Amino acid sequence: MYTDLKTILANAAANHYAVIATSPINLEMARGMVLAASEKNAPIIFLFGQNMMRRHAKAELLIPMIKKLAEYATVPIATCLDHGNDDERVMYAFRNGFTSIMYDGSLLPMEENIAKTKAYADLCHQFGMGIEGELGHVGIAMNGDDKKGIYTDPKDAANFVKQTGVDCIAIAVGTAHGDYPAGIIPHINFDCIKACKDSTGGMPIALHGGSGSGDENIMKAVEAGINKVNVVTDMFSACRNELISQLKANPKMDYIQLMMEEENAVKKALEHWIDLTGSAGKAALFKPVNKIGLLTSKCAIGQTE
Ligand code: 13P
Repeated sequence: MYTDLKTILANAAANHYAVIATSPINLEMARGMVLAASEKNAPIIFLFGQNMMRRHAKAELLIPMIKKLAEYATVPIATCLDHGNDDERVMYAFRNGFTSIMYDGSLLPMEENIAKTKAYADLCHQFGMGIEGELGHVGIAMNGDDKKGIYTDPKDAANFVKQTGVDCIAIAVGTAHGDYPAGIIPHINFDCIKACKDSTGGMPIALHGGSGSGDENIMKAVEAGINKVNVVTDMFSACRNELISQLKANPKMDYIQLMMEEENAVKKALEHWIDLTGSAGKAALFKPVNKIGLLTSKCAIGQTE
């Protein structure tokens, strides 16, 4: 069922688990991911990055595909513009049927980040959409951006949540986007997660840069209070590695079979992440809102048990 970020993450925060947020850029990835979520009976969030949509498939193609798959799935499925940082992209998400946006003002001075995030939060809520803000910048791993010690201040997080009215806050706790240099596993500041959870009164918290962060770290981060784990690079790698190994073994492989192998590989990879974050079985906590789940985002709000 096509639903909204706020409903999914409020349920995750109330029941102490995290939902995987990931990026299907084509039909094979989307099918594999929806199958994984369905078989694990887990809610899921689909992220579409603004640069990804500029480089490759556009929302005009992606969102109808996800909505169609969501008609057949009984698990809650939300869509989110990832790292939106300008009016043009936010309006693009509005026009194209996303159920939420992540506004990234993390590189702005705090007051400006608060003011812009609040303006977008007001707009999103008027239209029944959810919004995630970011406080404390999550950088890029290969740039050495997983700097220890640059963590979100829990007091600032409380102020940010209060002033902006966001539905979820992404914080900096030691992870970074993309692949880490070989052999590096990030040091995650679990105390910072716990302190931000307390200071914000239990607000849903997002962890960006999930890929390569280590299974134990992810499980501990969820225990500390993370409710949304963004994992993109590892899903792309699972697809690429599968294609390489299949084509190495059989360079003339039937193309449809090859695509089905990709679908299976992403499904398997996602199932592992769903298990790590405790979201398996949690779709049972959401009431189905109609038979086939053809919903507007507004209809689903408040439909949790
Ligand atoms: P990874 O690609 O490192 O998993 O990060 C994804 C992310 O945080 C998207 O916002």
